[in-house]
Amino acid sequence: MTSECTPRFLASDNTSGICPEAMEYLLKANQTDDLAYGNDHWTARAADRFRELFDYDCDVFFVFNGTAANSLVLSAMARSYHSVICHELAHIETDECGGPEFFSNGSKLLTAPGPNGKLTPEGIEALVTKRNDIHYPKPKVISLTQPTEVGTLYSREELLAIRAVADKYDLRLHMDGARFANACASLNVTPAELTWQVGIDALCFSGTKNGLAFGEAILFFNRDLAEDFAWRCKQAGQLASKMRFVAAPWLGLLESGAWLSNAQHANAMAGYLAEGLRALPGISLMFPTQANSVFVELPPAVIASLRQRGWTFYTFIGAGGVRFVCAWNTTTVLLDSLIADIQAALN
Ligand SMILES: Cc1ncc(COP(=O)(O)O)c(C=O)c1O
Repeated sequence: MTSECTPRFLASDNTSGICPEAMEYLLKANQTDDLAYGNDHWTARAADRFRELFDYDCDVFFVFNGTAANSLVLSAMARSYHSVICHELAHIETDECGGPEFFSNGSKLLTAPGPNGKLTPEGIEALVTKRNDIHYPKPKVISLTQPTEVGTLYSREELLAIRAVADKYDLRLHMDGARFANACASLNVTPAELTWQVGIDALCFSGTKNGLAFGEAILFFNRDLAEDFAWRCKQAGQLASKMRFVAAPWLGLLESGAWLSNAQHANAMAGYLAEGLRALPGISLMFPTQANSVFVELPPAVIASLRQRGWTFYTFIGAGGVRFVCAWNTTTVLLDSLIADIQAALN
């Protein structure tokens, strides 16, 4: 294999293309005209499929990207004087350009540390009980990322323990499911078992990272929180006039089962890469590989050599180190080539 033979994108699952199932439905939706602003039959069908998949009569909305989904949902869950508790590495804290604070008119994010990128009940409780005076932004929401920004997973038991703290202090639970499908696949649980059955009030479910061109689904299990949410989306510029082209590809993922098989494949590829890296001398993984990303410490000279050979990856995500992310279309050929290049650079 030569370095010219393949694009070498492993920076994010956002670099992958549109999967065949999503493309097929996009083309189907293009065969006839339909109503605008989400009044088309594709949007209604996709929302119904989500309710079936989650086995719950939830409210469903579609927006373009994850920043909008998180920001708008959090603004529906917290008033401006409330605070949102999240992990210090959470995407809403580190990578959304203040979007959650902006859309909520100032709700403050309160961050807590925690091993493996995860909030703990103790960390949450410490923030909630730190102060209760009028000068402290009143905690109202806990935001969890599943899988986390460092590719680890909350177990159902961990989620239930966090729900117990939420109940104790009357807090709402938001889940940033940028890689929610990967979490379901890895834990081998149903979407219901990972959300409303453990007390999640609202989920942002990414389609972009799961094989769509763009598009995130927002599911409110606590339907009171969805009141007037459609207006919030419209005001924020997130109501697509041709919504069917967001919804139909989602339907492709849901009706074909690709939402899960794509995630299973991406997870398997990350597992393959982790194994390959572990076998190299002196290389240590930074976190357990539980979903579709692999974090590894690499010497600066190796990083420079990989970049020179055209590999794309991030070094600023999470706790630093090199992050490789696998997607629905990642191949073992690509990963073998990466491992070989790392091995060569180590020598
Ligand atoms: C954990 C997490 N949340 C949310 C997002 C959504 O971001 P975007 O606005 O780029 O779609 C991402 C994207 O990388 C992410 O990794």
